Amino acid sequence: MILIKLGGSVISNKNKPFSFNDSVVKNIASELKKFYPKKKFIIIHGGGSFGHPLAKKYGIRNGLDGKEKLIGFSHTHQAMLDLNKKIIEIFLEKELPAFSISPSSIFITDNGKIVYGSIKIIEEAIKINLIPVLFGDVVIDVSKKIDILSGDAIMSYLASMLDVEKAIFLMDVDGIYDRSPNDEKARLIDELNEEAKISAIEGKFDVTGGIKNKIREAMKMDCIVYFINGLDEGNLTKAIEGKKVGTIKKGK
Ligand code: IPE
Repeated sequence: MILIKLGGSVISNKNKPFSFNDSVVKNIASELKKFYPKKKFIIIHGGGSFGHPLAKKYGIRNGLDGKEKLIGFSHTHQAMLDLNKKIIEIFLEKELPAFSISPSSIFITDNGKIVYGSIKIIEEAIKINLIPVLFGDVVIDVSKKIDILSGDAIMSYLASMLDVEKAIFLMDVDGIYDRSPNDEKARLIDELNEEAKISAIEGKFDVTGGIKNKIREAMKMDCIVYFINGLDEGNLTKAIEGKKVGTIKKGK
């Protein structure tokens, strides 16, 4: 089984609230179509310009801190359902049986870490050749009461619980760089090994918090991990076929 994270910056335009990159998602679905049903996929998409602005507006990451937040909690989830629906509809148009599963209905976290996951439904859906589509979502948290659960954290949780051969992260840059990709000295890292991980996390690499978290989650996984540019057609095919593209972390 292959886990695929559609980064929020691939499926939406980060600078424009509620924008959806229709053509990019269509290309992704067409590439997956070539491998379905021979390969089994689980899709996890990010929040992009649907989830993040609302999560910030309502301060969901700070938990229930006395402010009235429950309406915002539900609004944020609904925005993610809107985005999820757009993706599912494109998959269905391509005759791919995408099936929406809300992470907030199956996971509970404790300070951001998944402590309960009812994933039987995912396993059974996969068995009958459905393509489960999950997403970064709001979540009930035992300590903070409410929180955000990122798609990246769902990727590493599922990789630890299911029989996963490969995890592919689609981003809006070509892979993991040793500093900001906007810096002209930036170098693309071909292979993410323990040394690169330490450099990134200990600050020898000048990478953003979001990328650090992605690296952390990827290094927890035993399977092969690809970080590729999801805006360029053909990259996803290469990653599924095991060809050289983006940044790769070898399997253990
Ligand atoms: C965030 O999910 C979900 C919400 C803000 C509700 P991710 O953290 O996986 O999203 P991206 O990929 O960074 O947009």
